[in-house]
Amino acid sequence: MLLVLGAPVNITKAQSRKDKLIDSLLKVMTIDEKIGQMTLFTSDWDVTGPTMRSNYKEDIRSGKTGAIFNAFTVKYNRELQKIAVEETRLHIPLIFGYDVIHGHRTIFPIPLGESASWDLDAIEKSARIAATEAAAEGINWTFAPMVDIGRDPRWGRVAEGAGEDTYLGSKIAAARVKGFQGNDLRNYNTIVACAKHFAAYGAAEAGRDYSTVDISENTLREVYLPPFKACADAGVGTFMTSFNEINGVPSSGNPFLLKTILKDEWGFKGFVVTDYTSINEMIPHGFAKDEKEAGEEALNAGVDMDMQGAIYYNHLKTSLSEGKVSMDEVNDAVKRILGIKYDLGLFEDPYRYLDAEREKNEIMRKENLDAAQDVARKSMVLLKNKNEALPLRKESSIALIGPLAHDQQDMIGPWSAAGDWKKAISLYDGIRMKLGSDAKIVYEKGCNINDDSTQYMARAIAAAGKADVVIMALGESAQMSGEAASRADIGLPGMQQQLFNEIIKVGKPVVVVLMNGRPLAIPELDRNANAILETWFSGTMAGAAIADVLYGDYNPSGKLTITFPRSVGQIPIYYNEKNTGRPFDANNKYTSKYLDLPNTPLYPFGYGLSYTTYKYSNFNLDKPYFNFNDSIHVSATVTNTGKRDGEEVVQLYIHDVTGSLTRPVKELKGFRKIFLKAGESKTVTFTLHASDLTFYNSKMKLQAEPGQFEVFIGSDSAEGLKGTFELAK
Ligand code: NOJ
Repeated sequence: MLLVLGAPVNITKAQSRKDKLIDSLLKVMTIDEKIGQMTLFTSDWDVTGPTMRSNYKEDIRSGKTGAIFNAFTVKYNRELQKIAVEETRLHIPLIFGYDVIHGHRTIFPIPLGESASWDLDAIEKSARIAATEAAAEGINWTFAPMVDIGRDPRWGRVAEGAGEDTYLGSKIAAARVKGFQGNDLRNYNTIVACAKHFAAYGAAEAGRDYSTVDISENTLREVYLPPFKACADAGVGTFMTSFNEINGVPSSGNPFLLKTILKDEWGFKGFVVTDYTSINEMIPHGFAKDEKEAGEEALNAGVDMDMQGAIYYNHLKTSLSEGKVSMDEVNDAVKRILGIKYDLGLFEDPYRYLDAEREKNEIMRKENLDAAQDVARKSMVLLKNKNEALPLRKESSIALIGPLAHDQQDMIGPWSAAGDWKKAISLYDGIRMKLGSDAKIVYEKGCNINDDSTQYMARAIAAAGKADVVIMALGESAQMSGEAASRADIGLPGMQQQLFNEIIKVGKPVVVVLMNGRPLAIPELDRNANAILETWFSGTMAGAAIADVLYGDYNPSGKLTITFPRSVGQIPIYYNEKNTGRPFDANNKYTSKYLDLPNTPLYPFGYGLSYTTYKYSNFNLDKPYFNFNDSIHVSATVTNTGKRDGEEVVQLYIHDVTGSLTRPVKELKGFRKIFLKAGESKTVTFTLHASDLTFYNSKMKLQAEPGQFEVFIGSDSAEGLKGTFELAK
């Protein structure tokens, strides 16, 4: 029985075809075949945890696994799909998953960097291109977007998300889902997305990966869940559970998260997959006594598919026979999984993603590389620019110094999928390409990224002495962020700080180009460098994009989406903190502060400079108050007061002055990225409704409360023009 269906005529008809097909399958499937659909195994390619199986091909053949990850290329996936479709009893196609996080072959900036562009169209486009390339290589499911709010820069996985803010994070989450999934999953160039890691993974205690999370339900619902809800609303097909526990319950055994919130409150119809062996991990968590019990907890909590743990595979049948789990739960899980396979068009044509011709044509096309370069430039954040040290003049002689200055390997960052670092453009090559053969540039490594050797330093110091300007490429290796890459010290690793200190003594202008997957605590760089450009890990086109910015062919417009602390001791530090009963007062000892550091960060959320300057004026509220059915318009005029054209991210924040529960000092509620020619002014107007002013009260009801609000329009979270209005009863 080969199940092939024609194209659906309309939505209701399509739905009924889908239901009919899935119901007919459920009727004939054995328990083993059902459990097989609920089982995801890695192929023998790049894995991030224990491999555990060598016989996955045999498992496909016997119908014991219906999903494979870490497998791509048309040749390889076709071979596996052929086994599923031609050699199994029911011919159900496989779904192929992979971590396509920031590009597939063409690598885009790490997601944290890309978020600093505040450019939703560019972000959606990068996901679209990633999906097109991945789909051309046989992949139909990405484990992205990662939408965990990251407020702790020690946590290496902040690199994979969109930063610390819930509002911005939700917009970016939806843009990424749209990019991956396109308008219709049946199109050959769309892949199903996965909102991960559900939930609150970013709240890990001490910023240590996989660590405990203990937060209030208000914080969970207000800070950590909205980006997931935005994914669900954007139609994301799958969710992945997180490794952490929340308030004593691991996510893979958490019915409150997976059933009450996700499947019931939000009406999510896709399927939930675990993270890598996270059902098994409920044993060391201390939540299940053995694998069988862990599997029961997981299924009863709402986990539909087990990633790599082989728990359902080994134990679910016994649990069913003992009545510990019900056949209804199993059927519901299988239905959800088959539903996504159907939506992808895999029943219609299991080989639709496996076209060798397309594979040849879609990968690393010129337009893909151009888009990667474009968004890379938009992602860069100018942190300091004293006396207009940047942009550089093309005639200046350059000493290019630092362990990342001629590095390709790290440019593509962590989670770089099938990206080939050998195709990445180093900063050195990017500058040479820009300046051509008469470039006056000398490269010296100066030191390694992360060891204590000083053998290269003297040469670097000598080179600095002979140049007009020094560019220092400093930061982390790609592997210092991402999964299992937390750091307790977030300064420059190895001898890089010492190298910088020595180079500064030479007395030449020093431009620092930072490459890193997290905020770094770099107060000395801020004090002594002439300019600092944050470039994250900006992907395949890194060097070319950085050179564009350094030489003024692109005027930087990125703004930080995560706070840069002065020191690790300030963490957790984020812009939308609560006030205290004793707010900071420099003249009063008994107020909230440190003895040895200011409370303020080194660079706040929303911050970023440009080669031009912007002035904000004419702040206006169209009325002093509004009621629940009405709205209020807030506007300001932004003028480009410098000599260059540029883009500015205009940001709107509110502060709910008094509430039945205390509210953050500021909350982002809107932004607009505008282009202004030199000398040009534009008025930007935002509309606020009562729904923009809501929060969860103590009864977990989402509501706005009447009262006074402050509202700010400005260029970052630390400053802005201010007004007040009232939400009337
Ligand atoms: C573990 C990671 O936490 C998750 O993000 C990833 O998708 C899986 N491994 C699969 O590689």
